[in-house]
Amino acid sequence: MNVILLGPPGSGKGTQAQLLSKRLESPHISTGDILRRAVGTELGDHAAEYMNRGELVPDAILIEMIRDRLSQPDTACGFILDGYPRTIPQADALASILSGLDREIEIVINIEVPDTDLITRLSARRVCTCGATYHLTFNPPQEEGVCDRCGGALYHRDDDQEESIRNRLLVYKKQTQPLIDYYANLGVLATIDGRGGIEQIAEGIYEAVAAASAR
Ligand code: AP5
Ligand code: MG
Ligand code: ZN
Repeated sequence: MNVILLGPPGSGKGTQAQLLSKRLESPHISTGDILRRAVGTELGDHAAEYMNRGELVPDAILIEMIRDRLSQPDTACGFILDGYPRTIPQADALASILSGLDREIEIVINIEVPDTDLITRLSARRVCTCGATYHLTFNPPQEEGVCDRCGGALYHRDDDQEESIRNRLLVYKKQTQPLIDYYANLGVLATIDGRGGIEQIAEGIYEAVAAASAR
């Protein structure tokens, strides 16, 4: 299945993408993680200037990045996109890249969470370079500051500061939210309530994906 996880910052895209990726045995493609791993390169340092302010990185950079990633063979039997597309031009570019590969997006999961919860989640989030995500209260690692999955040191993202979080929410509403109607019009949108337990939400997402795969 070719899946997009859509939702505001902190809605649980990364958390859910990890679980779904295991279940579907498909790669989890997070453009935010790819950009953060590129820090130290010219591209990564340029992108970090936008990311730290909570702005979107220019479309042209992201479109080339996703074109390159989707040309890799591990995506041929399905993928889970987390954080891409984020603008209408990115969505149009994705459709054209996939059509060239004779593929298409089969389901877009729109994860809904109220703003107040988003701020609580992001201000106490801890992440690992391997892509694993934790929360000091809601999803703590077994050992403080250490990743359960790879043993790496956990860190607080530079854009998880209150000012940057507020800007990311504004940017989401202005530039990314229009994608909800875009994909609803294509008949591939499923909206999921992103509040409650992580496992319970994962089950709802899996059911929506299974229903789309049976269509
Ligand atoms: P990106 O890394 O994608 O950040 P984001 O969209 O702001 O989303 P987050 O990663 O903050 O949240 P999430 O939905 O993954 O939530 P998570 O699972 O971590 O992008 C960062 C930046 O890169 C952008 O601002 C932009 O600059 C740039 N960028 C990336 N892609 C781009 C693109 N396509 N175009 C242009 N620029 C781009 O969960 C959050 C917290 O909540 C965690 O602590 C987690 O443990 C906790 N949690 C999860 N689920 C629950 C639950 N059910 N209950 C309680 N807590 C929960
Ligand atoms: Mg994320
Ligand atoms: Zn790790």
